[in-house]
Amino acid sequence: MGVRTGAVENLVNLHPAFWRDRSVLVTGHTGFKGGWLVLWLHRLGAQVHGYALDPPTDPSLFEVAGVEAVLASETRADLADTEQLTATFRRVQPEVVFHLAAQPLVRASYADPLGTLVCNVLGTARVLEAARMCDALRALVLITTDKVYENREWRYPYREVDPLGGHDPYSASKAAAELVAASYRASFFTGPTGHPARVATARAGNVIGGGDWAVDRLAPDCVRAFVKQEPVELRFPHAVRPWQHVLEPLAGYLRLAERLLAPSGESLARAWNFGPDASGDATVGEVAETLARLWGAGARVGSAPSADHPHEAGLLRLDSTMARTVLDWQPRWSLALALAQTVAWYQAWMRGADMTAFSVAQIHAYETTGST
Ligand SMILES: NC(=O)c1ccc[n+]([C@@H]2O[C@H](COP(=O)([O-])OP(=O)(O)OC[C@H]3O[C@@H](n4cnc5c(N)ncnc54)[C@H](O)[C@@H]3O)[C@@H](O)[C@H]2O)c1
Repeated sequence: MGVRTGAVENLVNLHPAFWRDRSVLVTGHTGFKGGWLVLWLHRLGAQVHGYALDPPTDPSLFEVAGVEAVLASETRADLADTEQLTATFRRVQPEVVFHLAAQPLVRASYADPLGTLVCNVLGTARVLEAARMCDALRALVLITTDKVYENREWRYPYREVDPLGGHDPYSASKAAAELVAASYRASFFTGPTGHPARVATARAGNVIGGGDWAVDRLAPDCVRAFVKQEPVELRFPHAVRPWQHVLEPLAGYLRLAERLLAPSGESLARAWNFGPDASGDATVGEVAETLARLWGAGARVGSAPSADHPHEAGLLRLDSTMARTVLDWQPRWSLALALAQTVAWYQAWMRGADMTAFSVAQIHAYETTGST
């Protein structure tokens, strides 16, 4: 396909020469963030392999943006299937693994706490087990969330050294995945006799972008309502959240992987925050109103919050100083631009555009526009 990047310098500090023909495994490649990551890795020239269950939604970014077509191979299997997982690592011999496969929803974790823990904690342990049997592996980036921190409902941004916690089962499962990762790193991926791969975890928050159809997420909820010309009902319209475009943390994961493989990469095998700056903070209501305005005719926001919802944590902001200073990563798109790109994506899909080309064009725009 004609979507790979040329020698053009990009502004996000990613290096096609690093990725060219490198074997990379993405778990969760049929999902929202995984699909975008596969498109980006392919554009950078990597040989991208996937491991996941079928797409979690219909429609899905995976189907709509033709993600399958850019994969070198894929395995459709559960993380619990140790045999398939190990066989995939053996066959693919990835040098870099991005682990995104998970049960990613807070509300679903109240409905199925045990399933969430099995998928997110044991699933991570199984990936680490398969990883330590894989000779080719040099970097493993495990994707968790900003919700891993013990939320003290204070306004200070959380740093990587702050205590882990988790009120709801999803948050606890991701905090536990962090502990599992730290234990494996210390036990099996450290020192002269340990496996040489560098194991890092990456924490980011609410992301928005085209191609998300998950239930109980704001942008997909808005799009579903706008398409039906119904008012979108908001659960917590006054709750302030940090927002960022999906490409922001993905740029951080890619940058982190590049740096982990550098000779000095051992010291980077640790936890990393990739959050927006404070200008990304906005209430749920403000974001929904902006999405409605950008969408145009027929889009509106309902007036009354719907009642009886399980606990949701208040504002939690990440301190991403370490990623900024050590990895040279920084948020690039303002909230206004992130929302505009999101609406543009869904509207392009609705008018039948080539969504592989459209998605790759958004990646290109992200790579080449300076911070806004
Ligand atoms: N989307 C967000 O706002 C957000 C925020 C913070 C962290 N995250 C994290 O990013 C990652 C990706 O999230 P997403 O929004 O793309 O989710 P998603 O639901 O769109 O995708 C999840 C992926 O995991 C796969 N999967 C789920 N259970 C599996 C299992 N048992 N075995 C194998 N594969 C399985 C699915 O098939 C899919 O490919 C997750 O780890 C999530 O916790 C997401």
